[in-house]
Amino acid sequence: MSGKGSQEEILRLFRRKGGDYLSGEEISQGLGVSRTAVWKHIRQLRDQGYTIEAVPSKGYRLAEAPDRLLPAEIQAGLETQRIGREVVYFEETDSTNLRAHELGAGGYPDGTVIIADRQSAGKGRLGRRWASPEGVNLYTSVLLRPDILPFMAPQLTFLSAVAVARAIGEASGLQPRVKWPNDVLLSGKKVAGLLNEMHAETEGIHYVILGIGVNLNMRPEQFPGDLRYPATSVAIEKGSTVSRTGFARCLYREIDRLYERYLAEGVAPIIREWEGLCDLVGRQVEVDCQQRIIRGLVTGLDEDGALLVRTAEGTEERILAGDVRPMKGE
Ligand code: BTN
Repeated sequence: MSGKGSQEEILRLFRRKGGDYLSGEEISQGLGVSRTAVWKHIRQLRDQGYTIEAVPSKGYRLAEAPDRLLPAEIQAGLETQRIGREVVYFEETDSTNLRAHELGAGGYPDGTVIIADRQSAGKGRLGRRWASPEGVNLYTSVLLRPDILPFMAPQLTFLSAVAVARAIGEASGLQPRVKWPNDVLLSGKKVAGLLNEMHAETEGIHYVILGIGVNLNMRPEQFPGDLRYPATSVAIEKGSTVSRTGFARCLYREIDRLYERYLAEGVAPIIREWEGLCDLVGRQVEVDCQQRIIRGLVTGLDEDGALLVRTAEGTEERILAGDVRPMKGE
């Protein structure tokens, strides 16, 4: 077993003890390594921020785990069918979506989760950057291998939006809303962004990547000055920080539930939930589609994820891409 594998195993043994002492002997037998090696691994865990108490006649006790998004931390108590059965963690990477493409091409299974503590080139929509400072937020990509046709892939954006909104609601007690096509808002400000990508051929999908960035504990001074939209974090809105690991676990559980439902029943129940989370349904909006501006009443989403807007002339427009905002006075 690698050093990292041994440390993960020690953390698993601690968790099984539920806060009780674990003797050096138990650990060395459990891992099949010497007591000296156990001591070395304990020291390395402490270096990573774990508070491990040592009492001569009792052994070791895990008093506190750092809020680091480590696979062992996330997977402890994660009850999911597929999502997060495999977790790949990077202290730093350019973009978790890029790593997910590599793992997708390398045959990693449906539900593999990629996490980074910080991203040096986090990707946003339309070639924009996603601010990704260390230690505060969640930057994750989920690799999915659904048996669907390429035109259905955008449906999964709504799956991730609903999952993120549910998880933020649970972590904060607040009521997040969604904005078409891929934003999650708290108090009308962007708190999470979604960037879904896929690798497909005309006849089918090899894999889809749900790229998810959630501003969890980011402080006001950490937001870039040149943002095009008002942004916030869960901690700013809630008034206290949230556990990143607890949030990640909750998010993967929600994605897992929705994904199982999607595979069994299709996208309709997800669209219904998304519509219930979207303030713009039933309101007059203006959609900037680059070549033209469409104005009208939002009636909902269709099964492909297109925004349905009824214009004053009575035509129903299906909008697949654009920036939507409520009309003045709405
Ligand atoms: C947007 O709203 O513009 C989408 C932002 C998506 C950001 C996430 S962070 C994790 C994943 N990796 C990336 O490089 N981007 C997505």
